[in-house]
Amino acid sequence: MKKIELKTPITLYDSVEELPFDVQNLMNEAVKARNTAYAPYSKFHVGTAFLLENGEIITGNNQENAAYPSGMCAERVAVWQAGSRFPDVKIKIIVITASSKSNPVTQPVAPCGGCRQALSEYEIKQNENIAIYFMGETGNVIKTESLHDLLPLAFDKSFL
Ligand code: THU
Repeated sequence: MKKIELKTPITLYDSVEELPFDVQNLMNEAVKARNTAYAPYSKFHVGTAFLLENGEIITGNNQENAAYPSGMCAERVAVWQAGSRFPDVKIKIIVITASSKSNPVTQPVAPCGGCRQALSEYEIKQNENIAIYFMGETGNVIKTESLHDLLPLAFDKSFL
């Protein structure tokens, strides 16, 4: 028996102003998407924007449903759009932002486990890392260099 430590490297930015300009622009697109989220039940609005290698920007937001499990997270709304519209184009950067009607979201909001799994599929498929930046409405921004960093020990096609 041996213990192995898995490390998750992150980059912590004090605020959105510290991000590279192209990422700030992408975050602006995510904020716009966040503002049109359909989240009448949780009142928690999530917006995301993906930069593809062909320059296209794909956005998504959460879409809730009175039958709660039938709703969908912003990240999966966007990644399936990217996968269906641009199946052979790599995703370079994903940015995510969240706000709430109940209280200010000042901490970075990481993608949920289900979204990490869904996104991980596409990173593996394209054989190239996707940088992920996530934040609340204000405050710090966290960057990870890949989905793999967010989801170590992922389930993937190698098990099938
Ligand atoms: N949500 C997302 O859109 N992305 C995540 O990664 C976490 C959660 C949404 C789902 C639901 O509409 C609301 O946030 C509250 O969970």
